[in-house]
Amino acid sequence: MTSNIENIKNVVVVGAGLMGSGIAGMAAVAGFQVTIVDLDKKLLEKSKEQIAITLERVGRKKFKQNETKINEFIQNSLRNISDSTDLLEVVKNADIVIEAIVENLEAKQKMFQSIDKIAKPSAIFASNTSALPIREISKNSTRLDRFCGLHFFNPVAVMKLLEVIRIPETSETTYKTVMDFGAKMGKTCVTCKDTPGFIVNRLLLPYMSESVRMLERGDASKEDIDMAMKLGAGMPMGPFELSDLVGIDTMKNARDFYHRMAPENELFFPSPLINKMVQEGKLGLKTGEGFYNYK
Ligand code: CAA
Ligand code: NAD
Repeated sequence: MTSNIENIKNVVVVGAGLMGSGIAGMAAVAGFQVTIVDLDKKLLEKSKEQIAITLERVGRKKFKQNETKINEFIQNSLRNISDSTDLLEVVKNADIVIEAIVENLEAKQKMFQSIDKIAKPSAIFASNTSALPIREISKNSTRLDRFCGLHFFNPVAVMKLLEVIRIPETSETTYKTVMDFGAKMGKTCVTCKDTPGFIVNRLLLPYMSESVRMLERGDASKEDIDMAMKLGAGMPMGPFELSDLVGIDTMKNARDFYHRMAPENELFFPSPLINKMVQEGKLGLKTGEGFYNYK
């Protein structure tokens, strides 16, 4: 079985938030024709601004002070991206659909079901879920052999890893194609079975959850916990800085899923602090305030 990467030209990214914008921007840099989809135009406008900022950062890094080359790079990449609120229309032309909507199982199942019969039979469906089982997300799909997880990391432009998740039905051709797709996007691909949190989040979520418990117990301040993990454990960011980057709502959704999976494990008991932050809309960098204030 060989890879079908030469047939992957049109990429549809569903969800134009933090991750969708990052994935769309970097897929455009890699030369794919990308359409990014969200629920309303305002969100797409915000995403476009975010993509432009990212491309500028990537371009500056790549071409140093050469303003002509930087501008050329940005314009060429932007030309590869269009946006839409009409998923059912744009999906007809997709060779691969990458889902990056809210971390909610029912929402993801519903989205994939809505496009199942409309997308080309050859199109590959992939979810960027942080921790939900890919097999559950694909439950209502009639193309299980073309279903997989493609888990990118935040910020997509910087993080070099892509976790590729196979469900038992994922075909060898689909697997090889998405591994090549990841490589074309400049990522190092690792493979993991369809297990909760895959590799990175299976290890990261308990660490992040314990950091919140530490704060709630009053063992140390968030500033000291962050400093300790940066200077004492070599992390680029402390757990609270990282939670703000990831999004408190996304962290809560993943943690709640772990709680449902292992209700006896105290580590994932609902956190009053996290629940309050989500209620108050303090979701981290994306809303201007989380554990820290960015306004
Ligand atoms: N887009 C493009 N480039 C970016 C960027 C972005 N959003 N953020 C940072 N960069 C670039 C900068 O331009 C800079 O480039 P140069 O090296 O050319 O200067 C470089 O990255 C370093 O950035 P900064 O100097 O601004 O800041 P930093 O050194 O503190 O790095 C960081 C920022 C890369 C985010 C770093 O702190 C880091 O690696 N943090 C940890 C991130 C992490 O763990 N991510 C995974 C989260 S878990 C996840 O994603 C899975 C999930 O399902 C929740
Ligand atoms: P986000 O809240 O920034 O963006 C989600 C976007 O999806 C929003 O703009 C929302 O309007 C849109 N959306 C919701 N339902 C939709 C639908 N039915 N159709 C089209 N658009 C819809 O979230 P995010 O941080 O980008 O996370 C997206 C996914 O990626 C989640 O599954 C998350 O767990 C996963 N993930 C997040 C990170 C992270 O660090 N934030 C890292 C890796 C994976």
